[in-house]
Amino acid sequence: MPVETEPVSDAELQKLESVLLNQAGDVSLHRRFRALFTLRNIDDDRAVQAISKGFKDESALLKHELAYCLGQMKRTSALPMLSDVLRNMHEDPMVRHEAAEALGAISSPSSLPVLRQYTSDPDRAVRETCEIALAKIEFDNSPEGQAFREKEHSEFTSIDPAPPSEQREEVATLRVKLLDTKQPLFMRYRAMFALRDIGTPAALDALADGFGDTSDLFKHEIAFVFGQLSDPYTVPALLKVLQKDTEADMVRHEAAEALGGIATDDVLPHLREWNARPDAPRVVRESCEIALDMWEYERSGELEYADGGERETGVVPAAAAA
Ligand SMILES: [Fe+2]
Ligand SMILES: [Fe+2]
Repeated sequence: MPVETEPVSDAELQKLESVLLNQAGDVSLHRRFRALFTLRNIDDDRAVQAISKGFKDESALLKHELAYCLGQMKRTSALPMLSDVLRNMHEDPMVRHEAAEALGAISSPSSLPVLRQYTSDPDRAVRETCEIALAKIEFDNSPEGQAFREKEHSEFTSIDPAPPSEQREEVATLRVKLLDTKQPLFMRYRAMFALRDIGTPAALDALADGFGDTSDLFKHEIAFVFGQLSDPYTVPALLKVLQKDTEADMVRHEAAEALGGIATDDVLPHLREWNARPDAPRVVRESCEIALDMWEYERSGELEYADGGERETGVVPAAAAA
């Protein structure tokens, strides 16, 4: 969510870019993430350009976060880069998924053709993301979507892949919609975000039931929503996901970062363990590194989860990472 108001000097941007790109070769991943979150809050095409340079990196985790941030910045100058990432069949599917989701977040009708093209992608998460992004862009540009935008719906500042369901429905009704695999994912996501906005233990239980789904995309979004809510009530469900080595990397990654944002004492040994486990996938290990940094941030009383010290960017830390 761009909230930066003060102009940023070229020198300052250059410094952030060089931390993000690790030009010195000695920058830790979590510092690179902090630089990225600072850049994300600079409402300027120069920040889009700086972030876009990071797609040459080797870390899928970093690159998927670049795509997420470009979507949240909602600047159309990012569209060509995001389309290229989605088209790149050599790119990690998690990164391509996030590029498609970012196209949905920016919500330009000009992205409809590329998203349509990849609804038949071999990777299920990419396919499903394209379907949801198409539905979102169509919704945003419909009279219903325009009326929806004029009202304030949620305390969460993220641009979500789908809007919460309109009417105030009961948790039990929303749960049925959430878990109904015959419904389009866009509709199931609408129930998901409505349950997030309700946020009671019953709503959280309903969301946790979603971890039984077969769609990695759907499960990773549940973990993301838990990260946004930052309610210690969800820790047991998230730990189960992190520890399950048959679970998809993107789901475990999202669980790790949600746990880092919740930052209770009991999550720390698990994040440390999976950060250090040589048998863990790279995405899981790196996510735990970021999660440990988020954990420390949460406990430190710092003003923002970002790099660049004095800049007042107002990031909501628990929702900082995708
Ligand atoms: Fe994602
Ligand atoms: Fe993510």
